[in-house]
Amino acid sequence: MSLNTPYLDCARSAALEAGAFLREHFGSELNVNALEKHDIKLELDVQTQELITQRLLGTFPDHALYGEEGIAGNPASDFQWIVDPIDGTVNYFYSIPHFCISIALREKKTLLVGVIYDPMRDEMWAVERGGEATLNGKPIHVSGRTELSEAVLSVGFSKTGTTINAGLPMLEKMVHRARKCRLMGSAALDMAYISCGRLDAYIEQGISLWDVAAGILLIEAAGGKVEMNPRPDNKDKYSIVASNGKLDLAD
Ligand code: IPD
Repeated sequence: MSLNTPYLDCARSAALEAGAFLREHFGSELNVNALEKHDIKLELDVQTQELITQRLLGTFPDHALYGEEGIAGNPASDFQWIVDPIDGTVNYFYSIPHFCISIALREKKTLLVGVIYDPMRDEMWAVERGGEATLNGKPIHVSGRTELSEAVLSVGFSKTGTTINAGLPMLEKMVHRARKCRLMGSAALDMAYISCGRLDAYIEQGISLWDVAAGILLIEAAGGKVEMNPRPDNKDKYSIVASNGKLDLAD
C-alpha cells in the first residue's frame, strides 16, 4: 500500500532538487570547508542542505530540521526532519559516482517517512510508515539469503581512530565468513541496497542518525532488521548492524 502523504511528496521533491544540483556540480572543482584525516567537508554540503531546508521548512514552517550541516526550524516541534545532504562526501569529492541524499521525518521518536536518492543512477527509494518500501515506485524486499557464506556485506569505517579500530576486528572476521565484504562509502546507500536485496547486511561502529534514519524505515518496511546502539564514548554516534533479518551475524 502506498500512502503518498504530503510529507513523502515533499521529501521526494527536495531530494530530486538537491540531486539535480549535485549532478550539475559533480566532477567540477569544489570548495573545501575542512580537510580532516578521514573526512572532507565541502561548501556544497552546506549549500545542498540549505536548498533541502528551504524546500522542507518552506512547506512545513513549524517543523524542526536536524542535519549533518546543522539544525534549523522550530526546536519545540514534535516533527523533525533528519537530513544528510551528501552521504558519501568523500566519494563525491573524488568524483566517485556513489553518493546520495538521505531525508527522513520523525514525530517524536517514530520515523514517518524515509527517502534516499542516488542522483547519478536516478534511483529513488521511498517509504512511509504503514506503507511499502519502493524503488522508483516499485515495491521492494530484502534478500532471502540465510547463509552468511552466500552473503555480501558492506562494512563502513567512520572518521575517528577509535571507530576505525572498533570496526577492524569485525571486518577481519566477516571477510572470511561472507562471500564478499565491500567498503562502498555511503551508509545511506548501503541501507537502501539492503532494502532492495542487493546487499545482505551492513555493519559500522560510528554512524550518525542522519546517515541511516531513512534507511531504517526502508529496511524495516522491506522485511529486514536494524539494531543500533549509542556509542559509550560519543552520545551522537551509534554502532549499527542492518540486515535482511535472516542472517546469523553473531560471533
Ligand atoms: C559517511 C558515509 C560513510 C560512513 C561514514 C559516514 P558522510 O557519511 O556514510 O560511508 O562510513 O561513517 O559518516 O560524511 O559522507 O555524510
